[in-house]
Amino acid sequence: MARNKIALIGSGMIGGTLAHLAGLKELGDIVLFDIADGIPQGKGLDIAQSSPVEGFNANLTGASDYAAIEGADVCIVTAGVARKPGMSRDDLLGINLKVMEQVGAGIKKYAPNAFVICITNPLDAMVWALQKFSGLPKNMVVGMAGVLDSSRFRLFLSQEFNVSVQDVTAFVLGGHGDTMVPLARYSTVGGIPLTDLVKMGWVTKERLEEIIQRTRDGGAEIVGLLKTGSAYYAPAASAIEMADSFLKDKKRVLPAAAYLSGQYGVKDMYVGVPTIIGAGGIERIIEVEFTKAEKEAFDKSVASVAGLCEACVAIAPSLK
Ligand code: APR
Repeated sequence: MARNKIALIGSGMIGGTLAHLAGLKELGDIVLFDIADGIPQGKGLDIAQSSPVEGFNANLTGASDYAAIEGADVCIVTAGVARKPGMSRDDLLGINLKVMEQVGAGIKKYAPNAFVICITNPLDAMVWALQKFSGLPKNMVVGMAGVLDSSRFRLFLSQEFNVSVQDVTAFVLGGHGDTMVPLARYSTVGGIPLTDLVKMGWVTKERLEEIIQRTRDGGAEIVGLLKTGSAYYAPAASAIEMADSFLKDKKRVLPAAAYLSGQYGVKDMYVGVPTIIGAGGIERIIEVEFTKAEKEAFDKSVASVAGLCEACVAIAPSLK
């Protein structure tokens, strides 16, 4: 059986890390693509030269021509400009929308059967535009944010409680970043909901709110430290988890920015929700009941994503 083919559109910091992880995990052969000629080729060669040491089998190639992604099973999109200090994800909108148009056309032509994972920010708007520009089925185009946001939340909770990250689960909804909605009653330590841990005296409500806020600001905290770019290790690991679930039909329950056609009362938008990812792409969207406060927070998040989509339509009317 031929190996799977993974195309990485964008070979910057996240793209290079994706290639390394996909190689180490033997997910398939890897094509790095970038407009900056030499970067994808150089990174591909460098990572390939680590394969004898690490003991993984994968062909890694670099390209600046979309023909190289032909027949890809998975495309992970990081092409665009990353956030600089003081720049919000939304500032990136105008620049990255144009990039999505080119990427969408390339995927449409050469990899129309791929499962497409978008990472480029502002995420919820970019994945929405990418689906429209590419014309791929909506269940096959998804945005990576929830796995990353919940991973950050899980880390901070594990540090707070001094327990293994493996025993902490987190449940986040809504848009990526400032309006993200973590649901404390569905986030657990060893199966015990955070709301119960508050009652048990493990953490105060106020402290939990601080941890949630740090999670929301997780990306900005790293931008502030790095000064010359944004996070890449955790975003790459998160997208690889989603690709792995698709390629191996694992049917993992993962939060993702998925196309909503009425679920949660939202239509024609991508918003972070719990999903099941398997060989059929987004195979199911899980709809949970909200409390009044959760519903308000979710609606606020949806409104902010809707604002970004409207800004996209103002720039590219064909998206309507
Ligand atoms: N087509 C292909 N590649 C492009 C294009 C384009 N039109 N425009 C830019 N690129 C490439 C750049 O040449 C660069 O190598 O995209 C790459 C982006 O890499 P980085 O700048 O290192 O950014 P990275 O940290 O990988 O983040 C990528 O993910 O999390 C988001 O906000 C982040 O939008 C950003 C994206």
